[in-house]
Amino acid sequence: MQRLRTIQSVATWARGLQREGVTIGLVPTMGALHEGHLSLIRSARLSCDAIAVSIFVNPLQFGLLEDFDRYPRTMPRDIRLCEQEGTDVVFVPRAADIYPPGFETVVSVQRLTRRFEGTSRPGHFGGVTTVVTKLLNLVRPDKVFFGQKDYQQAAVVTRLVKDLNLPTAVVVRPTVRDADGVALSSRNVFLSPPERKAAAVVYQALSAGREAIREGTRSVKKVQAAMTRVIWAEPLARLDYAAVAHPTTLEESRVVRGQVVLLLAVWIGKTRLIDSLVVTAR
Ligand code: PAJ
Repeated sequence: MQRLRTIQSVATWARGLQREGVTIGLVPTMGALHEGHLSLIRSARLSCDAIAVSIFVNPLQFGLLEDFDRYPRTMPRDIRLCEQEGTDVVFVPRAADIYPPGFETVVSVQRLTRRFEGTSRPGHFGGVTTVVTKLLNLVRPDKVFFGQKDYQQAAVVTRLVKDLNLPTAVVVRPTVRDADGVALSSRNVFLSPPERKAAAVVYQALSAGREAIREGTRSVKKVQAAMTRVIWAEPLARLDYAAVAHPTTLEESRVVRGQVVLLLAVWIGKTRLIDSLVVTAR
């Protein structure tokens, strides 16, 4: 496995393989790797000849008061895990190379980013779409892999790739969860033991929403209420938003029809967790 630091070196690596007809899968991450990330690497290995994993805690997608400085950084372990999973290249750029002096371009997806995470974290998606565009331009992978856990991010990137005619297929993979339903997340390490226990309410709330739909509830307000009730019952949890939206446009309507996505953002103490569940009303 090669560890590449510079923009030049990763582009050269990719162009060399592409000239020989080797297909490339890219897994963008911010490190602190867990089974969720590893599932993306495994999925990439199944359908691409060569795999690149990028590890870059992207300053542009963190708000001024957010957890950029505290974000977990476990590079030696990450490198080991990538190697174990059969990664060909780990791309670990420096912030000064990704955003050199004079950098002033932001890639922005419009309507899709104006709700949910976009409202709660102004500027966040601009940071995500800018760095993802840069990574896609550098590597030009055949496929890029994202997790469903960050549902809106996957929807935004899918839109971005379509709108800018980027020659890459976006693959979205299911959320990997712990036994109690908690979605794996690099931020889970911030949770104290009681908070980690309380975090199970997030998936419980999503399940309550799904159950309501399965039982025939078609009022979005009622499905939201079913989710909200579960969060409110947990003293350590504070709801940011509970939404029911169209699976691709993320538009909200008043009735549940066909497939919808349930989206939750919940504070557990000082840690903000997001999760989602796709549900089909039959
Ligand atoms: P990060 O939070 O490190 O996540 C990297 C990828 O792993 C994302 O596509 C995310 O959805 C996926 N992932 C995280 N937890 C998961 C889980 N429990 N199951 C399945 N997939 C999971 O998302 C980012 O980094 C950044 O915004 C990035 C796209 C790298 C741009 O900086």
